[in-house]
Amino acid sequence: MRSCKRFFHAITPSFAPRFHAPPMLSLPSLSVRCSRALTCLAALATPFLTGGWLSGPQSTFETEGPVARSQLEVFYVTLWVTGIIFVIVAAILGYATLRFRARSAADEHAAPPPQSHGNPLVELGLIFASVAALVVIAIPTLRAIYFTYDVPEAERANAYTVNATGYQWWFKFEYPTEKITLDAGEGKLVTANEMVIPVGRAVRVNLRTYDVIHSFWVPKLAGKVDMMPNRANHLWLKAEKAGYYWGQCAEYCGESHAVMRFRVIALEEPEFQTWLSAQKKAAVAPAADTPTAQFASYDMTPKGRNAAGYSASFDANPLGQWRQQQQADSAVDAALIAQGRQLFAQKTCVACHVIRGHHIGGNSAAPDLTHFGSRTTLAGGLLENSPVNLHRWVTDPNGVKPGNKMFVGLPLGGSVMPGYMLKDPTNGHLSPNIQVSDTEARALVAYLSSLK
Ligand code: CUA
Repeated sequence: MRSCKRFFHAITPSFAPRFHAPPMLSLPSLSVRCSRALTCLAALATPFLTGGWLSGPQSTFETEGPVARSQLEVFYVTLWVTGIIFVIVAAILGYATLRFRARSAADEHAAPPPQSHGNPLVELGLIFASVAALVVIAIPTLRAIYFTYDVPEAERANAYTVNATGYQWWFKFEYPTEKITLDAGEGKLVTANEMVIPVGRAVRVNLRTYDVIHSFWVPKLAGKVDMMPNRANHLWLKAEKAGYYWGQCAEYCGESHAVMRFRVIALEEPEFQTWLSAQKKAAVAPAADTPTAQFASYDMTPKGRNAAGYSASFDANPLGQWRQQQQADSAVDAALIAQGRQLFAQKTCVACHVIRGHHIGGNSAAPDLTHFGSRTTLAGGLLENSPVNLHRWVTDPNGVKPGNKMFVGLPLGGSVMPGYMLKDPTNGHLSPNIQVSDTEARALVAYLSSLK
């Protein structure tokens, strides 16, 4: 007991005997304070009790692949080690604070108890315990660093490769092994914001950026690795089952960083091959015998910038929604689609966006829209690809994604390709350039949505 006391004196050298209660402030009554405290506790405890704090589309606790699982294991080891340290330190601190508090006026003026600075047993013991804790954390950390760095040797022959490039504020996905025919010759399959991969195969993702630093993160599969200017980074991931996974840029990259998102859709090999062959084709146009449907009228009640981007049916089954999105509409308004296709050129959208087979040229620094209608998201993964959301996007892009390059103009080398606004090079002032009326937007929506 004596040595115990000495130990506590050693680690709580001076404040314990001089502990004062703070002067009383004017506080609400005890019952009010109790009810407030209980409300607070209930609010904090609800997610814990319901398990809600561990789930969600971007939860790192629900891993769906080996890379994310390895990262979660490191988290748990660190959590356990630091948790045990916290419990021990808090228990000692609590004990010492209560046991050695000043109980009387005499205690307050008493001389400090014997001090034990430099006690070799205590000092060496704490050093050894700290080193041991670090070693326990270091072993799984080093193993995870080695494992997550690149595709394991055994899986390399069967690995699939995708090149991902970050732009302010969207992701381009290029499939280097999937060749397509372009007017200018052979090219690589390119898509935007939705990375479709095969299930059960290691996928090596080469990470690049067009402008500033972005970071590639698919919480349930792998991450996060920065996309750095002038640096070739990579990561690998593997989805163990077919699924629809949320991704997010995880490095602050400008005003719309928070809405720079993407999706990873993992498909069994036959479905993946079907998707690839559909994507390799040029853009479709309604066949002469397609049944005509009046393009659905939709409610355009103004919605705030932060209005929910997804419908309940989408949230309930995103992969099902994605599959449905691959199907061509059985009936379309061919005249409206043709009008939209014309407007796409007239409004100069073609200066940036490629639609293979319809509009050549474009620019590789803007999303390829050849199969835009088959995607479940738009505006960098921010909104569900629905007619209402697309209408919002083409009429008010800056309201949806502030500062986006389609609105302010696309920087190309030393100049800026005008967007919805035209920048005055002398003073930087923006003046309206592209204007899209409600009726024009409906035609553009019909056209873009038909691009399955
Ligand atoms: Cu890109 Cu944050």
